[in-house]
Amino acid sequence: MSQLSPCPLRIEINEVAPRDGLQIEARFVPTQDKIRWIDALSTTGLKRIEATSFTSPKAIPNLRDAADVVTGIQRRGAVDITALVPNIKGAERALACNVDEINLVMSASDSHGLANLRMTPEQSLEQFAAILDVTQGSGVFINASLSTTFGCPFEGEVPEARVLELVERLIALGIQGVTLCDTTGMANPTQVKRLCEAVLERWPETPFTLHVHNTRGMGLANALAAWQAGITRFDSALGGLGGCPFAPGATGNVCTEDLVHMFEAMGVDTGVDLDALLNVAATLPELISHEVPGQVVKAGKSTRRYPMPVSAIQ
Ligand code: COA
Ligand code: ZN
Repeated sequence: MSQLSPCPLRIEINEVAPRDGLQIEARFVPTQDKIRWIDALSTTGLKRIEATSFTSPKAIPNLRDAADVVTGIQRRGAVDITALVPNIKGAERALACNVDEINLVMSASDSHGLANLRMTPEQSLEQFAAILDVTQGSGVFINASLSTTFGCPFEGEVPEARVLELVERLIALGIQGVTLCDTTGMANPTQVKRLCEAVLERWPETPFTLHVHNTRGMGLANALAAWQAGITRFDSALGGLGGCPFAPGATGNVCTEDLVHMFEAMGVDTGVDLDALLNVAATLPELISHEVPGQVVKAGKSTRRYPMPVSAIQ
């Protein structure tokens, strides 16, 4: 563990289920249901909610109501509303809705960039430069999410040197925060810890976020490894929803309530009221018409106790 980065006592959660979660659902969730859900989430102590994406409605039909969602939700000062944006058109739409943050998205690998965005990383960087011209002076925080940072479902390994080069170029452009994304759950804890230590050491002033998917059951382990490297910002999705529709084999993000439960049990302050969050998580199967992978909502917190069986105490 880096001496500069002891395990943090406090972390921040960015809830991405309204974006990463709903984008891959089979069914469109009605706009008013999304708004009620996000309003409920925003009372639970989450630091940030990625409410939607301003993408092409042809690419992501489930989020075609992005503007109505962002302008329809209650804005509470304590919760930043962010939205995923792939290009200049998306940035203009997001700005028009007064988001607090724009989360630009690009891929670290050419193949996923072309499959997901029809853009290579180089083309995405050109878009970002144009977007930063438009957003300058707006006061909106500009974050960039780097998909396939820990591996690409088409190309396999993405060299760490390539990831560091792209992070450097993002920061040089004027991007304020960077999210390292394990798009299809290819990362392992050793790899996550090494890359997180590397970026924190090289760019100690830049807020870095970890975004992991639990596709191979390593989501919580990877989050823990990032925390041990000194990462304080995590993306996660209620219920463990999520996945990129243009990344073969993609499944859900690390589950927010399971992540909060783990960190709170370890004495790390997440700022989240876990009981309130679990109450919202319990409404998910009705909202999206199927069961979700989240575990704590089914098992109860680790403080749950059961009565002894009568036969054992007689
Ligand atoms: N918001 C709304 N509409 C958009 C848009 C945006 N941000 N960007 C492009 N469009 C529209 C264009 O106006 C055009 O519409 P038209 O056919 O009615 O004229 C159409 O989409 C195609 O535009 P073009 O610039 O050629 O885009 P493209 O077809 O090359 O698609 C993206 C590029 C980035 C817009 C598209 O691939 C996309 O939205 N991808 C998002 C993928 C995603 O969110 N993945 C999951 C998250 S990781
Ligand atoms: Zn994701």
